[in-house]
Amino acid sequence: MREDILRGLQKEVYDRCLKPTNKFGMGCYDHIKAVVKNATFLAKHYGADQEVVMIAAWLHDIASVTDYSLYEQHHIHGAEMAYHILKEYHYDDAKISLVQECIRNHRGSVNSEKRSKEELCVADADAISHFDSVPSLLYLAYVTRGMEMEEGVDFVKGKLTRSYQKLSAESKILYQNKFREVMEVLGEPVISA
Ligand SMILES: [Fe+2]
Ligand SMILES: [Fe+2]
Repeated sequence: MREDILRGLQKEVYDRCLKPTNKFGMGCYDHIKAVVKNATFLAKHYGADQEVVMIAAWLHDIASVTDYSLYEQHHIHGAEMAYHILKEYHYDDAKISLVQECIRNHRGSVNSEKRSKEELCVADADAISHFDSVPSLLYLAYVTRGMEMEEGVDFVKGKLTRSYQKLSAESKILYQNKFREVMEVLGEPVISA
């Protein structure tokens, strides 16, 4: 495991998130950290290359936090940036390509075929990371957007449902209890037998 790269990337991402050019604020750093945590778990679970998955998770939104104008195509620009960053660490070329594929295909909203286990881990970790940030979603609804109680709940539940639907079939099964529990806490009517 290239601990030097992982430590370096954490610092690099943290520093870029802190800069005023990052329009998403520090919540973005928490998001990326959550993606790394979930991606590490999924890599172990699915027997994927853990090092590649962790590196790709740290870098998956690097273009968005670096330059807001790159957001629309951040999966493409991010893969380019990752190449240059990882070359500085003299990282293995074949592994850089795998990391780039994970970044290019991490977006559930962009129709792309995930070919490797590593790509699946990063994309699923990105989608499920919303479940680690329910407080920030509530903050977004009630404080930032000034929603009423019911509207806010629907907004958060809608976001979480769409995230869950982006998961691969196998990860949907893996996270189905978590999904159900969070929805229940938010007031999903419990169907009694
Ligand atoms: Fe992204
Ligand atoms: Fe992300």
